[in-house]
Amino acid sequence: MVKPLASVLALSAAISVVFAHAGHALEKRATTPGCSTTYAPVTAYPALDCVPFTQDPQVVNWLKLVDFTKTPTFKPSVVDATTGSTCPPAGTVIPADQCWWTCQKCEAPDDVTTCPTPGTWGLTYDDGPSPDSPRLYDYLKTHNQKATLFVVGSRVVSYPTTLKRAYTEGHHIGIHTWSHTAMTSLTNEQVVAELKWTEKAIVDTIGVTPIYWRPPYGDVDNRVRNIATQLGYKTSIWTMDFDTNDWNIPANITTASAVISTFQAWLPKVAGMKTGFIVLEHDLFPQEVDVAITGILPLAYQQKGLTIVPIAQCRNDAKPYKEGLGTFVLVPNNTTSPSGTNSGPKSSPTGVHSGASGLVPALAGSALAAGSVLAMTLF
Ligand SMILES: *[C@@H]1O[C@H](CO)[C@@H](O)[C@H](O)[C@H]1NC(C)=O
Ligand SMILES: *[C@@H]1O[C@H](CO)[C@@H](O)[C@H](O)[C@H]1NC(C)=O
Ligand SMILES: *[C@@H]1O[C@H](CO)[C@@H](O)[C@H](O)[C@H]1NC(C)=O
Ligand SMILES: [Zn+2]
Repeated sequence: MVKPLASVLALSAAISVVFAHAGHALEKRATTPGCSTTYAPVTAYPALDCVPFTQDPQVVNWLKLVDFTKTPTFKPSVVDATTGSTCPPAGTVIPADQCWWTCQKCEAPDDVTTCPTPGTWGLTYDDGPSPDSPRLYDYLKTHNQKATLFVVGSRVVSYPTTLKRAYTEGHHIGIHTWSHTAMTSLTNEQVVAELKWTEKAIVDTIGVTPIYWRPPYGDVDNRVRNIATQLGYKTSIWTMDFDTNDWNIPANITTASAVISTFQAWLPKVAGMKTGFIVLEHDLFPQEVDVAITGILPLAYQQKGLTIVPIAQCRNDAKPYKEGLGTFVLVPNNTTSPSGTNSGPKSSPTGVHSGASGLVPALAGSALAAGSVLAMTLF
């Protein structure tokens, strides 16, 4: 059954909370009302925005792909009903080898969190495809800009033609789970079901199998990583603290101008970083697309020495899908303008987009207020 996005969101609005913790935020979509607790076999796809049942024959088959004796045995986290956080209470000792990104700020060696080359921005948008995604795609197309799109399985089956368009236009498609639930809170079997149902929805729609996946809220630990790795996926997060907070605009927790200021404040410092960076942005709500196409990208295109590419491009990865490149065009490294020496056109015919004009001055006082934020949100 396919519910319209609007009704799903309206339901979520009533019951969800947002939690910002130590600089990176967790959004929580509580178990959607209407998610059945009684198993019924899946006909085409699981119920939208609900954690899939694991006794489904299709899931049982997928479970054979993973050797759970190799999976670390950390217990599933508990989502705090008030804050949405999956982190244990302050003072709880989390084993170092759990390497929990959200709660320990721990990055595993194989996590994709940066672009290797300084001055390179791995452009990503999460949570689509949505009714607003085409406006983003239109803008990107105008600028010959490709992006990595981490899509939610429930949105893919609701908006398949939108995903087809994104793929046809050469964007790099990745997995962002079926129900957008915090993955550390799920059982091993549920983790498999979330990833594989999303993969199936994508394969059914565009015919290729993504290798990159991004955990919702960045909520991943070594248990979840191990399962994802055994299934052949690359865990991709974002560069620590490079969250635009665009997802807080629809909830009125922040404003577009605050988000733009946050982004602008990063620009002077990225040139001095040892690596490039990956930023968290979204294309689920109109406000998120608005800030991307009227604020963030126009600013970025004025920034000298910035190269903006999908993650597969910045990592020079010729295998974004299990089948290879699909529609993705990987541009050889050495055709990218070196950082700071751009003099060519803003858009190369290859789709590698480099800023060419003057430096954007950073705004003073742009950082969002630190500390915890607790508020109602649409997520
Ligand atoms: C291309 O760039 C990637 C990422 O920076 C790097 O790992 C790779 O070695 C580069 N390849 C060449 C041929 O320079
Ligand atoms: C945000 O503010 C706008 C304008 O006041 C209002 O229409 C909307 O319902 C608010 N959204 C939320 C989630 O509170
Ligand atoms: C890029 O590198 C390849 C292989 O090293 C070389 O053949 C090619 O000429 C280079 N292209 C440019 C534009 O430098
Ligand atoms: Zn998300």
